[in-house]
Amino acid sequence: MLDLFGQKKNDFLPEISEEELSDQEVMSELKQLKQELREDLLILGHHYQQNDVISFADITGDSLALAKHAANTNMPYIVFCGVHFMAETADMLTRPDQQVILPDLNAGCSMADMANNEQVEKAWEVLVNASSQKIIPITYINCDAKLKAFVGRNDGAICTSSNAEDLIKWAFDQGEKLLFFPDQHLGRNTCSKLGIKLDEMIVYNPNMQNGGVTTRQIKDAKVILWHGYCSVHQGFTAEQVLAIKKDSPQTRVIVHPECSYEVFEAADDAGSTSYIIDKIEQAPAGTSFAVGTEINLVNRLNDKYADKQIKSLSPYQCLCTTMYRVRPRWLLASLRAIKIGKPINVIKVDNETRKYGLLALERMLRKSK
Ligand code: 13P
Ligand code: SF4
Repeated sequence: MLDLFGQKKNDFLPEISEEELSDQEVMSELKQLKQELREDLLILGHHYQQNDVISFADITGDSLALAKHAANTNMPYIVFCGVHFMAETADMLTRPDQQVILPDLNAGCSMADMANNEQVEKAWEVLVNASSQKIIPITYINCDAKLKAFVGRNDGAICTSSNAEDLIKWAFDQGEKLLFFPDQHLGRNTCSKLGIKLDEMIVYNPNMQNGGVTTRQIKDAKVILWHGYCSVHQGFTAEQVLAIKKDSPQTRVIVHPECSYEVFEAADDAGSTSYIIDKIEQAPAGTSFAVGTEINLVNRLNDKYADKQIKSLSPYQCLCTTMYRVRPRWLLASLRAIKIGKPINVIKVDNETRKYGLLALERMLRKSK
């Protein structure tokens, strides 16, 4: 059977049922196995993971920090509690003899799915034919490994939400135009912060003829943004920011740059998940925050900093359902499989993709503090 990403599902222990083990038993076996495997195992946890999973992570971080940790570990097994593109990135950054494991192969990213290789190759042809200027492609790390290889082959690079500014500046040192995908919001917000005007940016929609843009628009644009977005961050609105500002003017609104331009502009501050955490940690006791990012992180911050008032910017649950797919019992299945030397859900990027993807990743890592 193939998973969402076309990889063959390993039949071994895909699930541990509730009849077999209660939640409590899962947690206690996980503790024991993690201890037993400590010489061979690194568990990485993205900030959006649920608390029960985070409690087993050796390292928690944003996409950039986790990629760096994956690149620097010697552990033979890296269990990535995050989503598919993160595990693929980790695989490209580790040695071939190391194994990167994603506890649930269906943990994807809806934004990453909004751009595929065929669409990006097609867009590239349209853009390159329309303009004689040098176009530099930058992809947000939230994308398939093949797109990382695409930017590697075409003199471009990868960025995350914490280094997008540096990478976009770098891109404009290499060429005259930028193609940014798949997240239009991170691209637009970052470019506008760097002084690029909104009317210098166009949106290429892969579902429309010629991307829905004319040759003239391509020639005139400085930035071509892909029509992609995060459905979780798209849930935050400028009206929510304005309502908070009206009812509670002292509340600081801090959002992730995957939010729309209107939200980004109306908020007091914006940055990656690690940036948001640092800002809340450094704020004096008594500070109130309304946070525009995924709900597991917001709730955890609220529990951790009892001396501050921390709530979601949205009254609705902004849950990343794909991150949420990683459950303690899937983590346990992964650890049991490692213990008997038959790891399951191993993420492997083919050599050709890896070669060019690595080029793009290394360009990013050289530019990241
Ligand atoms: P960070 O790199 O800020 O952790 O973001 C990853 C992500 O997917 C946010 O939706
Ligand atoms: Fe993807 Fe959005 Fe989930 Fe981040 S929050 S992993 S961008 S779907």
